[in-house]
Amino acid sequence: MSQARCFLFLLTAVAVITAISFFVKQPEPATRKPAAKMTENPTAPGVSPVIPMVTAEMKDGKVLFEKVCSACHGMDGGGKAELKSPAIASLPEYYAKNQIASFREGRRGHHPEDTQSFLMGTIAKQLTAAQTEAVITHLTKMPRTIPAEIEKDSKDADLANGMLLFQERCMECHRYNASGEIAFASPPLIGQQAWYLTEQIHKFKDGRRGTVKGDVNGAKMVLSSNFIEDQQMLRDIVAYIVSLNPKPEGAAVKDESPFESASR
Ligand code: HEC
Ligand code: HEC
Repeated sequence: MSQARCFLFLLTAVAVITAISFFVKQPEPATRKPAAKMTENPTAPGVSPVIPMVTAEMKDGKVLFEKVCSACHGMDGGGKAELKSPAIASLPEYYAKNQIASFREGRRGHHPEDTQSFLMGTIAKQLTAAQTEAVITHLTKMPRTIPAEIEKDSKDADLANGMLLFQERCMECHRYNASGEIAFASPPLIGQQAWYLTEQIHKFKDGRRGTVKGDVNGAKMVLSSNFIEDQQMLRDIVAYIVSLNPKPEGAAVKDESPFESASR
C-alpha cells in the first residue's frame, strides 16, 4: 500500500512539474543568430564554409580571389552547390559592382532568413574600395564556367514552354541569349547553375531579395518573378535558360534542340 502511495506521489509530482514548465516562459530565440547560422549549412548539414579574412596586404585581385573568394566560389569561380554559392567567374563589371555594393549596404543580406547573402555581406563589408575594384577586375577576366548538369536539370521540364515564357517575360531585359544587358543592369543568367537561378527567383518572390527601399534593380525582378506562378513554370524557364549554355567539352552530343536554333 505504501509503495502504491509513493508511486502515486511521484506520478503527481512529475505531472505538476511538466505543467509548470509549460507555463514558464521560455526565452525567445533570437531572430538572427549570425554565429550559429554561419557554421550551419542549410543545404548539406555538416558542410560549413571556412570564412576567410580579408587583410590589408591583399592588394592584388588574383591574390584576393584565391585567398578569399575561392573558399566559397571555387578556384574556377564556378560556385559550389554545397555552400549555395553562385558562379562569379566572368560576371560583367557593372553587375559585380552593383552586387558588392548591395551586399555591403544591406540591399542583399538584410533578411534574417537569407543566410547566404548575409555571409556574402560579411565578406563585402571587409573589402576596401580599392580591393573591390581589384578583385572585380580579376573576376571579369576569368573564363565563364558551364553548369555541369544541364541534362539532369531539364529532365522534368518542358523546354518549349520554358522558351515561350522566357521570350515573353525575361528576354527584354536579359537578352535573347540570357547574356545580360548593361543598359538594364541585368546579369547574365548563363553560366549559373539551375539551383541558384531557382533559389534567386524564390528570394525575389518571398521578399528576401529586391525589397529594400532604393533597390531599383532588385525591384524589377520582384515584379518579373511574380509572373512565375508555380514550380512547373519555374522549372521550365530555368531549364530553358540553362540549355542556352554551350555544351561542356566532352559531353555526349545531343540532337540539336529546335528551340535553340529558333532563338538564335
Ligand atoms: C563565406 C563564403 C563566401 C566567400 C568567402 C565569398 N562569397 Fe561571394 N557569395 C557567397 C554566397 C553564398 C553568395 C550567394 C548569395 C545569395 O544567395 O544571395 C555569394 C554571392 C556573390 C556575388 C553575387 C553573384 C550574383 O550572381 O548575383 C558576387 C558578385 C560575389 N559573391 C563575389 C564575391 C567575391 C568577389 C568574393 C571574394 C572577395 C566573394 N564573393 C567571397 C559566398 C561567399
Ligand atoms: C525589367 C527587366 C527585367 C526583366 C523583365 C527580368 N529581369 Fe531578371 N534581373 C533584372 C535585373 C536588373 C537584375 C539584377 C537585380 C539586382 O541588381 O539585384 C535581374 C536579376 C535576375 C536574377 C538573379 C541572377 C543572379 O546572378 O543573382 C535571375 C535569376 C533573373 N533575373 C531571372 C529572370 C527571369 C527568369 C525573368 C523572366 C521571368 C527575368 N529575370 C526578367 C532585370 C529583369
